[in-house]
Amino acid sequence: MTIKLNELLDIQESIILMESGYQNNTYITKSLRFLYNTISELSRFNELVDAKIIMLEEMDRVYALGLYNPPTKQPAFWTLLTTVLDTEHQNTFNEFVHAIKKHIAEGGVSTLHIERSEFIEAMREYYSIKLVETLKNCPVNFEFVYNEPRVERLKIIINQLEQSYSLDLSGSVLEICCGNGMATAALSKLGIRPLCIDNDSYSILEGLVSKVLKPEKTIVADVTELTDIIKGEEFDASIGFMLGDIDEFNKPLWKEILIQTIKLTKKGGSLLFTFRTEPEVMFVKDLLEELATGDVICQSETESLYDCWIYIGKKKLV
Ligand SMILES: C[S@@+](CC[C@H](N)C(=O)[O-])C[C@H]1O[C@@H](n2cnc3c(N)ncnc32)[C@H](O)[C@@H]1O
Repeated sequence: MTIKLNELLDIQESIILMESGYQNNTYITKSLRFLYNTISELSRFNELVDAKIIMLEEMDRVYALGLYNPPTKQPAFWTLLTTVLDTEHQNTFNEFVHAIKKHIAEGGVSTLHIERSEFIEAMREYYSIKLVETLKNCPVNFEFVYNEPRVERLKIIINQLEQSYSLDLSGSVLEICCGNGMATAALSKLGIRPLCIDNDSYSILEGLVSKVLKPEKTIVADVTELTDIIKGEEFDASIGFMLGDIDEFNKPLWKEILIQTIKLTKKGGSLLFTFRTEPEVMFVKDLLEELATGDVICQSETESLYDCWIYIGKKKLV
């Protein structure tokens, strides 16, 4: 199967990323151990070895390394390691890669200049495909994922907020806690393509299999660590539908989710969060008082349990 990573690296063989999940790439312990062991192995040879590696660079910094594994009992494949989300280990990674390069015979090393953002998108796609393959035997209820009345209602709400509260979803959009993408479906219908994130693999699986969530725009990760997961990018708008349940016990967790989200929103950027209950929306309004200007809207005249309370605002300019 050809995936974006194959296209970027211009290789046919399958690729295996060293870290088991997207979020593991924020702290690449396993990759560093592997590189260290590889250098130790190579040091045993007095001559240069016949191997193939690909180095991915941006601005003279290597941020990813592909190592070719020739066919044995299994077909040939490439192992891929990257420090693109782990800035702390960037220097060590570079040193290790250059130490490996020194042991490789002429012609075995190729260097590609690829923008990090392109690589990250391909990485997201890789982990989404991996999730679907890993959980392929899990049953998915498509009817549950696509909720037509909710989609139609959300489309109307968003249109109204664009008119009355200058909600602007025309730029880059982050959707936190997207779940299975039930609400993302409404954004899609409006031509909005958010970057979606949730820490529940099964919900993400449902969304991917139902095609509501796009593989290259979806991440399984903990939003309390959002600023480690998304590097070098700020969003024009941040959204979260049906955040919660928020109760006395988990308020610190939701506080961190919201604070991290605001950090990744551009100054003046739009904020849209929906909730089931009034205490939840008021908790968020009070929490964001210093950082954003916002209003609370009640939709409770509807029969629906979804999106009854809305926080609509903008991140402050200072
Ligand atoms: C009530 S569901 C809403 C799902 C979706 N936004 C919707 O409106 O249909 C709340 C979602 O928040 C997610 N969530 C809770 N804590 C999280 C965290 N720390 N990081 C990422 N997602 C989280 C849950 O996995 C769940 O999918």
